[in-house]
Amino acid sequence: MSRQIPVRMSGELAPGQRKLAFIDGRSIVLFNIDGTIYAIDNSCPHNGASLANGQLEGCVLRCPAHGLRFDLRTGCMPGAGGLALTTFPVQTIDGTLVVSLDEPGSSLSHAPAGSAAT
Ligand code: FES
Repeated sequence: MSRQIPVRMSGELAPGQRKLAFIDGRSIVLFNIDGTIYAIDNSCPHNGASLANGQLEGCVLRCPAHGLRFDLRTGCMPGAGGLALTTFPVQTIDGTLVVSLDEPGSSLSHAPAGSAAT
């Protein structure tokens, strides 16, 4: 199960902008890339550095600590397996950004779309 949490922001998140938000006790970075909003946990999976100020090249974010790169669309490292960002689904409902967060202890929400939990 996941919970839908509205993001309270002053103003709009315009294309090319990013915002650090504290949502339900989590530090989450929101990016608007060409009109699509992406939300990631503000903690690099390598060693926990903040990703809020990472350099963005298209949809690929470079961690400012050690330079690992992650694709915001998938959370994965381009061309390599291993580490992956924690990403959160985002949608706009009545003009408000809404982030879907996993319920604590829930593992079903990580199942790929169309798969069945066993
Ligand atoms: S903490 Fe991000 S690459 Fe090391």
